[in-house]
Amino acid sequence: MSDSTSELVSDLTSLLGPERTSTSRAVLEGHSHGESFDGAVLPDVVVFPRSTQEVARVVELASARGIAITPVGANSSLEGHTVPVRGGISLDLSRMNRIVEFRAEDLLARVEPGVTYPQLNDFVRRSGLFFPVDPGAHATLGGMVSTNASGTAAVRYGVTANYVMALEVVLASGGVVRLGTEARKSSSGYNLKALFCGAEGTLGIITEVTVRLVGLPEAASAARVPFPDVATATAFVTALIQAGVPVARCELLDPASMVAVNRHKGTDYPEETTIFLEFHGNPAGIAAEAELARTLGLDAGALSFESSSDAAERARIWDARHSHFYAMVAANPGKRNIVTDVCVPISRLAGSVNGALAACTEAGLTGYLIGHVGDGNFHMTIFFDDAPEERARAEAVAHGIVERALEVGGTATGEHGVGLRKLGYMAAEHGNSLAAMREIKRLLDPFGIMNPGKKLPEAGP
Ligand code: LAC
Ligand code: ZN
Repeated sequence: MSDSTSELVSDLTSLLGPERTSTSRAVLEGHSHGESFDGAVLPDVVVFPRSTQEVARVVELASARGIAITPVGANSSLEGHTVPVRGGISLDLSRMNRIVEFRAEDLLARVEPGVTYPQLNDFVRRSGLFFPVDPGAHATLGGMVSTNASGTAAVRYGVTANYVMALEVVLASGGVVRLGTEARKSSSGYNLKALFCGAEGTLGIITEVTVRLVGLPEAASAARVPFPDVATATAFVTALIQAGVPVARCELLDPASMVAVNRHKGTDYPEETTIFLEFHGNPAGIAAEAELARTLGLDAGALSFESSSDAAERARIWDARHSHFYAMVAANPGKRNIVTDVCVPISRLAGSVNGALAACTEAGLTGYLIGHVGDGNFHMTIFFDDAPEERARAEAVAHGIVERALEVGGTATGEHGVGLRKLGYMAAEHGNSLAAMREIKRLLDPFGIMNPGKKLPEAGP
């Protein structure tokens, strides 16, 4: 540890106390990577602030010494966001987990960044409201804002950024700013809060989030629709979305995923390519939507259409779906994996999904395809033995999937963010607007201490 780092640790310990300033090996290791284990790097110190003032003080101390800060929430990132590639401080916001204010009459809640969305939903449910963005992984609101997370319900409700009314942010200077208001709309100022939605901690640290809530649907039902293959399943999804059916969730799992989930969760769903649907609304409305979906499904070649309005069965379906990642990992002990996350125009979904599956099969690798297919967003997770040749083959498959998504007008990441792994696609996706992004970064973080190495590739020579 350098002199300036040990001085920093001693200042941080004076500020936060020894219990909330850690250099213990186990704590450093727990903050060296997210859910993707590749490229783990130990921070020098982990801190657990409990207030905006403490975060601001930590940032001042780091900034004075040019020491990097990597913010962490639930640490469920799949793209390396929380890897402190330049060492320094891992700023763990999980103890800032208070719901500061809830105003049912304004349909809003103000929360600290470490509040998880299930925690928020438990808190507001009795008022008949909920926060509808549902990425799984018990994500924190701060992390969700920072990646503009979305997940299974985005096809109906949109993405995290659509629910952010205001943010409090600690800037690299240690100054605290509030962005946005409690009004439901505004044309005032530059929309700086939008800049922080998906900034991945590279422009400042979010210390409070004001979110919009919506009414819980009066009724809900779910459907499980197996298909003989991915082509017919995606044809159905395209027809459903193009017909304007306002499904609340529309998820695809390939047969390998169904096997893994059944094994992990003890479910007994048919191990076919399956579309899981959910409908939200009033009883008559959702019955009509389900009926239209059934007709479109059977027309597209569905093997059956099993629907259920039983709350326990719905919970079982979405619990199984949300455990998918852990189910795959459990089915492949000792293997490494790469998760891809692309989003394509809905008309290109079938071609993209088939191309991804074919590439994985041709490479002789075990892969699983799932997707928030109502949005054209899908993930191919590729497992490999940690040997250079096999890793290279897996990386080539993942690379091809992203390249094809960009070719058809899609994006290199629908919801997981850029982190460390998608840096190589930013020039192709953003062209010369990357220069403007770099200017913004330089303006807000002149010394490059805010989650360095993520989001923007290094400028070329
Ligand atoms: C999912 C995560 C991987 O959709 O985004 O399960
Ligand atoms: Zn996803």
